Amino acid sequence: KMQFIIFSWSSDMIHLDIQRLCLWSAQALEMSVGKVPFLEAVNGSTVMLPCTYSSCIGIRDLYFKWLYNNNGTLQRVCDSTIPTEGVEPHVSVYRERVTFVGMNHNNNISIMLWNITFEDGGQYICFGRNPKEMGRNHSATFNLIVVDELRVVDNTLTIIIASAVGGAIALLMGFMLLKNFAIFVMTKLEEKNKECLVTSSGIDNTENGLSGSKADSKPTPKKK
Ligand SMILES: *[C@@H]1O[C@H](CO)[C@@H](O)[C@H](O)[C@H]1NC(C)=O
Ligand SMILES: *[C@@H]1O[C@H](CO)[C@@H](O)[C@H](O)[C@H]1NC(C)=O
Ligand SMILES: *[C@@H]1O[C@H](CO)[C@@H](O)[C@H](O)[C@H]1NC(C)=O
Ligand SMILES: *[C@@H]1O[C@H](CO)[C@@H](O)[C@H](O)[C@H]1NC(C)=O
Ligand SMILES: *[C@@H]1O[C@H](CO)[C@@H](O)[C@H](O)[C@H]1NC(C)=O
Repeated sequence: KMQFIIFSWSSDMIHLDIQRLCLWSAQALEMSVGKVPFLEAVNGSTVMLPCTYSSCIGIRDLYFKWLYNNNGTLQRVCDSTIPTEGVEPHVSVYRERVTFVGMNHNNNISIMLWNITFEDGGQYICFGRNPKEMGRNHSATFNLIVVDELRVVDNTLTIIIASAVGGAIALLMGFMLLKNFAIFVMTKLEEKNKECLVTSSGIDNTENGLSGSKADSKPTPKKK
């Protein structure tokens, strides 16, 4: 609805109106964990929990933290304060096997979770608070699902079988096409040979007469 309003204004006005909309909107700061807010990963693997923030009014001393929902109680995973956009913050980490990888590059505050166990599965909340907005809280939730290796192996096996079948079909079709092409070429060659024979004999017969033969059949056959 708001986008509609923006686009109905002229382009010169857009910047001004975005600022105005920001002030009206409750979502001045927005935390995002991406279009797919969950991940299924095998135990023992290393995963990235994505999160970025955006703010149309800009940030100053943005406080952010990652929380883990442990059966209803929220545990702090890490937190920091970002002075301004583009500044790499010093992040305090409270959970093992966690590193901050976003580095605040392009508002990226993603974290890496190393060697995950089944206990790591669950909800991870990316939280942000921008003092420019009088301490309003914003958050986004990412779900980590830890699965056993077996299930994934099954999946890969299915994929392998599927691609093998697909490959076989493709190969068969390719072979058939090739066969058809070969037949086509052979027929053409045969036709040409026949034509040549006809032409040469034609030349033989109509040498002094009508030009019934092709003009470009240069190699005149030897007379015996
Ligand atoms: C994943 O879990 C299975 C079953 O509990 C276990 O056998 C396997 O060793 C685990 N893999 C890793 C990499 O921890
Ligand atoms: C999680 O909560 C459920 C019910 O609320 C409880 O039965 C279970 O023991 C809890 N698990 C842990 C690890 O606290
Ligand atoms: C993850 O596991 C590997 C191999 O088991 C180990 O070398 C590495 O140090 C672990 N990383 C972390 C951050 O625990
Ligand atoms: C955030 O940073 C990580 C680590 O550099 C990178 O893998 C990821 O693609 C970045 N995400 C976005 C949305 O830029
Ligand atoms: C915002 O989050 C903090 C915890 O970080 C909490 O103490 C505070 O009550 C929250 N404020 C609102 C308005 O939800």
